[in-house]
Parts: sequence; C-alpha cells; structure tokens
Amino acid sequence: MADHRPVDFWRGDFGSEYIGRNRADASAVRQRARSWSTYFQGIMHDLPRSIVEVGCSVGINLRALTGLVDAELHGLEPNAAARRVLVEDGVLPASHVHEGEANSLPFKDGQFELSFTTGVLIHVPPSELPAAVDELYRVSSKYILMSEYFSHEPEEKTYRGQSGLLFKRDFGGFMLDRHPELTIVDYGFQWMRAGAVDNGHWWLFRK
Ligand SMILES: C[S@@+](CC[C@H](N)C(=O)[O-])C[C@H]1O[C@@H](n2cnc3c(N)ncnc32)[C@H](O)[C@@H]1O
Repeated sequence: MADHRPVDFWRGDFGSEYIGRNRADASAVRQRARSWSTYFQGIMHDLPRSIVEVGCSVGINLRALTGLVDAELHGLEPNAAARRVLVEDGVLPASHVHEGEANSLPFKDGQFELSFTTGVLIHVPPSELPAAVDELYRVSSKYILMSEYFSHEPEEKTYRGQSGLLFKRDFGGFMLDRHPELTIVDYGFQWMRAGAVDNGHWWLFRK
C-alpha cells in the first residue's frame, strides 16, 4: 500500500469490484433520495440549478437527484468502469462525466451551485485532504455538501482488510477551519438502524 495512492486502487480492480457490490438498483436510489430530502430541507426555496458530485461511482446520488431537483448534473469519477455505467445507463450525457481526482478538479471557479461528496473524502489521504476540500470550495458558487464518516480526532481504519485506504475525522470542522467565511446551513447524522444507507455525518455549507 505504501507505494500507492488510494485513488490508484479505486482506478483499478479494487474500484471496479466496489461497483459490483454497490449497484444502483431502485431500492438504493430510493434510499439515497430520502437522504437528499433531508439534506435539502433547509434550502427548498433555493435549490441548486447545477450540481457536481466528486467521486460519483455509478451515480446512485445522481439518479436520486434527477427525480428531486431540476438541475444540470455532472459527475467526476476516477474509475473508468463506473464512468462507462453512467453513460450506458443514461444517467448523464458523456460530456457531463469527468475523469479526475478530488484534489485537482477540471472545473472553473464557481462553475456549480452545489459541489458534494458522499463517502469519498474518507478515502483521500490526509496529505491530499487540504487540496480536496479547497477544490470542493473553489468549484462551488453557493453550496457545499459532504457526507462522510465522523471521528472527533482524525483516525485511520482498515478498509476491506487493508490499511491506508480509510480516514475518519470531523470533515465539517476541517472545511470550516480552512474556509471560515462559510455559513452552516445544516448538518446531521444518518443512522443505518433507522434505514439510512450508512452511518454518515453530513454538513451543508453556503458560500
Ligand atoms: C465509497 S465510493 C462512494 C461512491 C458515491 N459517492 C456514493 O456515495 O455512492 C467512493 C468513490 O470515490 C471515488 N474516489 C476515490 N478516491 C477518489 C479521489 N481521490 N477523487 C475522486 N474520487 C475518488 C472512488 O472511485 C469511488 O467511486
């Protein structure tokens, strides 16, 4: 693992196997739509008209968003197999599917009204996290949403039996420390025991 960046694992078989385990079936999309109804509760009067998901995989979020909001949707994903699914399933036109990495986004400043990650910053190593968070901030003109695993203090966990692939922390605090002018719109915890897709903490900020 020491010689590889986590994103290199996601580009290869490790990332393609993830797609096999996490399919965008109707029940997964419905579950995600419930999460987005919660995230959007405080901004129903001003929903974003353009959205980019960083690390979108096969687009479970993007499929859910299609049914919830009238917005231009874009996805960025390092894994080529996932990008193919997005186009083949008609989730996004090919021109809205982008190859890349969180720490260097191929977008203009303020290109989207919402930039977001769900379960992606946890896979960005601490050395690359400042750039990843700053890029989410840079490409948004209005909102930033992150839904990730929380830990009061930064900690590393093994992921699928391997080290160097999963990092937990207070991602909301990390973003606010780097960009203190952000306003907290809302935040919360989604609990698997109550039907959520994962035990995830989320933060919605406004620029
Ligand atoms: C756990 S999956 C989450 C997928 C999707 N966001 C969701 O919630 O269904 C993590 C995704 O992030 C992508 N990823 C991993 N490292 C990344 C990085 N440095 N930049 C962008 N995407 C990354 C992976 O390829 C994978 O698709």
